[in-house]
Order: sequence, then C-alpha cells, then structure tokens
Amino acid sequence: MKTVITYGTYDLLHQGHINLLRRAKELGDYLIVGVTNDNFDRERGKLNVCNNVLERVEAVKATGLADKIIIEDYLGQKIDDIQRYDVDIFAIGSDWEGQFDYLDEYCEVVYLPRTEGISSTMLREERQKTINVGIVGCGNIARRFVPEAAFVSGIQIAGAYDHDSAVLNGFVKSNSLPCAYPSFEAMLDDIDAVYVATPHLSHYGYCKQALLARKHVLCEIPLALEERQAQELYSLAEEQGIVLMEAHKTAHCPAFNHLMVMIKSGAIGEVVDIEASLSRLLPDKSRREFDPGQAGGSMYESAVYPLLPIFKLLGTEYRELNIYSRMENGVDIYTKGVLRYPNAVCSFKIGLGVKTEGNLVISGTKGYAYVEAPWWKTDYFELRYEDRNKNKKFFYKWDGEGLRYEIHEWMSCIINGRLGSSRLLPKESIAMARAMQQFTERKNFMEI
Ligand code: CTP
Repeated sequence: MKTVITYGTYDLLHQGHINLLRRAKELGDYLIVGVTNDNFDRERGKLNVCNNVLERVEAVKATGLADKIIIEDYLGQKIDDIQRYDVDIFAIGSDWEGQFDYLDEYCEVVYLPRTEGISSTMLREERQKTINVGIVGCGNIARRFVPEAAFVSGIQIAGAYDHDSAVLNGFVKSNSLPCAYPSFEAMLDDIDAVYVATPHLSHYGYCKQALLARKHVLCEIPLALEERQAQELYSLAEEQGIVLMEAHKTAHCPAFNHLMVMIKSGAIGEVVDIEASLSRLLPDKSRREFDPGQAGGSMYESAVYPLLPIFKLLGTEYRELNIYSRMENGVDIYTKGVLRYPNAVCSFKIGLGVKTEGNLVISGTKGYAYVEAPWWKTDYFELRYEDRNKNKKFFYKWDGEGLRYEIHEWMSCIINGRLGSSRLLPKESIAMARAMQQFTERKNFMEI
C-alpha cells in the first residue's frame, strides 16, 4: 500500500483544493491530509483565515478524498508525521516548488500542478468588507499603527486628523495616506471606524464623539481615567451597536492568551498570588509621561498592563487596593499596588523612574507560571512545579510591534458583528479605570 500525505490550510475550501486532493490521492492508495491548526496559522502570519480548524477539517472530510485527517500543530511536524505514518509520498501544490525538497531524505516529494485562478486569499478578499479607518492623533503610537495595519486584511486607512497641522501633514505624507482631514468631524463623516491615539486626557472626548456618530473605536490605553467615563463609553457603544475596544496589546498577545487559558484550566491549581512588574526608565523628564498636566506618571501610563492578568485570573471584584507611590514633580515615578481578594493577594510594580525586574509570576496551589520581561508582549512562558521534571516551556510567535493582533481582533469584531472581545471584557477595562481613579483621588494611598 502506498501512503501519500499532503498539507494545507483549506480555508473556504475551493476547487483548487479539491483538484489537488484528487491528484494527491491518485498518486497512491491511502491519503493523509494535514490541516493546519488555528494557532499554527497565526504563528505563520496567516491572520486572516476565515474558517476555524473544525470547519476546515469538516470541509476536507466532505470531499471524501481523505482517508485520514490530521492536524498540523508545529514547525517540523511533517518529518514526524512521515515517519509515524510510514509515508511514501509527500505531495503539495506547485506554488511550493522546491520548498520541501529537504523531505526527500524521508520519502518521495512530488509537486503537483496548481489550479490557476483561484485561492483562499482571493476568496477572502472577495467576501471581505473594507472598513475605512481614520486615525486621530499622529504621534509615536500612530506611527506604529500604520505598518502593522498592513498585515490585517479588511482595513483601509482613509486618513488622519491631528490638531497640529504640521504634525498631521508630516504624518500623512510619510505614511502615504490619502487624506489629511481638516477636522475630527470631517474625518468622522468619511470613515467607518476610528483609532484614537491622542494623549490620555483627550481619549474620553474623542471616543464619545466617535461613538455618538456610530463609528467603531479602537482607543489607545488608558481608555479613560475615571470609572464612570469608561462605563459610559461602553454603554454608549452597546446602545449604538458599535465596537469599542481599548488597544491593550497584551490582551491580544497569543502567548499571553494561551497562558491565561492554561491557568484557567487548572495548569497550576488554584491561583493564590500574582506579581506583575513593568518599568521603563525615561531619562528625558520633559516628556509628556512626566507632565502631571497631561496625566503623566507610572499609574496612568502602565497600570493597565499588570492589572490585566490579575483581572483575567481573579476577576474585577477585589476587596481593596492599596497604592504606594514615589512622587516626583507631581507624578508617580514608581507605584506599587497591592490588591486583596477573598482568597488571593496580588501586587504590581510599575516605574518610569525606578527600574524593576519586570516579570510576571503567577503562583498556584500546584505550581507557578513564570514569564520573564517583557511579559506584556511575550512569545514565551514557563510552567514550573515542585517536581522539576514536570516543568514546561511554551514558545509562540510575536511579530513586529504586535499591534497587528489587536487590529485583527478589532476588524474581526466589526466585520463579524461581534460587539466585544473576550480578550478584554468591558468590566475589566472599566475596573482598570476604577484603579486609576482611586489613584487620582489618593484613596488607600501612601507616598513613599
Ligand atoms: N492549491 C492548489 N491550487 C490552488 C490553491 C491551492 O493546488 N488554486 C493547493 C496548494 O498548493 C496546497 C493545497 O492546495 O497544496 C492547500 O493550499 P492552501 O494554502 O490551503 O490554499 P490556498 O488557496 O493557496 O491558500 P492561501 O491563498 O491562503 O495561500
């Protein structure tokens, strides 16, 4: 018996796939089809796959051509599969010509003719709605947004607005954007969605105006500095049937998400303690980050990062939050927060003028998770146990600035009519604003 193996994503299964599977089947007696897992596709940079792995497996099954279907999870798996299933022929479309020659050490490698004029990419583009996005605020963060958006399909950047016309024109020119809008209102009239990348204190106003105009919003952190404001914005988005997302890049980090899921499924037992730390020493004290008039300081700048794993794993209903800060010229250059839960205690350390270790340690009754700096955009974590033989390391992909993951989720929510993302729930985002408000009001606060 001759065994043939072939691999693919098989998204929006089309005639090209069917022809390829038929040709592969004809090469032998038994056809194994490897279908890529969703995570594996994401790691390979295929962010826009429409069907999930179960749907894709079902579609391949429905062709009746596969004798066995397996899931491709990791790089290097092909060699393992060829050996495990005693494969005689590895077959793949001619678009991969030459790229799998290294497998000829293990079996025969055959490149089959590809069907011209059709591909999943083409079909995705055909069914893809284009969302016109405007950017308000043309500073550093917006500069990173434009190249990252290029990795997400369905998004088109229509133009930008900044109250400083020199900054605006420079930004529009350097990013080759179609339009420098004369006002925020003019931009809103022309777009479907807005990315708010202005300084902190203007987030609430721009978001509210955009939501009232029924435009989807992706707002840079922190969405709001007061609980009531954050609540109001999410309620408004819900009433309007519009997507409002806080641009919390850690919430969309593939490794971080997997860590949360693993811990929630009991990988380290019951969580009893979380320590999260993050610091960025900025020598230039004239920056906005040190200006009390522009909501500078560690708490407004960074608290949303350590609060994310805490709220994700222990919920937003903590009993109390005690805040200890080192203040300098009206801003906290260092803050330590201690949150007490009924059955857990957590702490975070954030600094703009004090350097901290910068790791995330989540301790449970059976083991602990260790994520080294920069855990907030990590591609790696470890689960550690009393018995060191059980320790495990997990590796993922984190491409570029990582903004593509949050932009992708925002677009996916808009296009698929999902009003919110489970990666950052409104109540979690609102609780972050509550913590910042407590700091502003100096409640349970002590200067050190
Ligand atoms: N294939 C083919 N003819 C096509 C499209 C795909 O023979 N017109 C083959 C590929 O060469 C591969 C298999 O089908 O062997 C699965 O390919 P996959 O990457 O899932 O499909 P594409 O349509 O090429 O997807 P994409 O556009 O996302 O690259």
